[in-house]
Amino acid sequence: MTPELMEQGAEALQHHAEIEAAQKDSSGGSASFGRLVHGLTPDFTTGVALYVDDVTVSFDGFKALNRLSLMIKVGELRCIIGPNGAGKTTMMDCITGKTRPDAGTVSFGQNIDLLRLRENEIAAVGIGRKFQKPTVFEQLSVFENLELALKADKRARTSLFSRLSGTQLDRIAEVLTLIHLLPSAQRQAGLLSHGQKQWLEIGMLLMQDPKLLLLDEPVAGMTDEETERTAELFLSLEGQHSLVVVEHDMHFVDQLTEGKKTVTVLHEGSVLAEGLLSDVQSNERVVEVYLGR
Ligand SMILES: Nc1ncnc2c1ncn2[C@@H]1O[C@H](COP(=O)(O)OP(=O)(O)OP(=O)(O)O)[C@@H](O)[C@H]1O
Ligand SMILES: [Mg+2]
Repeated sequence: MTPELMEQGAEALQHHAEIEAAQKDSSGGSASFGRLVHGLTPDFTTGVALYVDDVTVSFDGFKALNRLSLMIKVGELRCIIGPNGAGKTTMMDCITGKTRPDAGTVSFGQNIDLLRLRENEIAAVGIGRKFQKPTVFEQLSVFENLELALKADKRARTSLFSRLSGTQLDRIAEVLTLIHLLPSAQRQAGLLSHGQKQWLEIGMLLMQDPKLLLLDEPVAGMTDEETERTAELFLSLEGQHSLVVVEHDMHFVDQLTEGKKTVTVLHEGSVLAEGLLSDVQSNERVVEVYLGR
């Protein structure tokens, strides 16, 4: 914890009225933050973080997901690829409670049936989601955004008006470093580049220490350098968190999988192929429906 950051923390406390106003604005817009104290702790003893089993979602008879099944291990970084309309975002909607499947089961660890929980409860049990468009509080500083995310987590048992503890300031500093925004801690979030806003939003998710992070096209619109740094960030999170990353950028997927991780290809709401990137890239069906276009 540096003295500068302590000072920044003190300064940020002066903006609580603004923070509170921003939080009110966020109702509905930022459902990924847990606001409930929930007694449920996921049981990861078998090493599985997430089960999606035989899930079907229909929209007016059209099956966006068609008996989709997949399993994510604790600490795993899984990339999901597939053509537009394959059902990738719908899958995330089912995991986070935004969409209710017609059939199937979605569970977190061995014990938590996600289909019985509301969106905010799902966030509270440790599932964080990053939507494609960055949703940060543009009028607040980078630091204040992280502070707000920390205090929005009811498990932290802090109110918006309480002082940040040393541990909390340390955690903010740690996340600022991780997301490459330590030098920009006092910058207004609205002035950041698109890529930096994406990192800030990921940082806000990390403040709540999610067990599972769902990231929908996180590098869309980023520069090559920002994309590279995002891959480094995700690789540094692997192991401590489970990550599900949906992306169309194959270079990025290649960086994340490091030639050894499983990639899942979705097509028409089901798993079309699963395996190493090099294997799915040479799979005829995958080339036909996706990569060869
Ligand atoms: N609320 C909805 N109502 C009707 N149809 C929907 C709804 N949400 C998704 N769909 C349809 O379900 C299918 C799957 O959409 P989804 O957004 O999950 O695809 P995706 O794999 O995320 O695609 P992309 O790569 O373009 O983001 C699409 O045909 C889409 O039009
Ligand atoms: Mg999508």
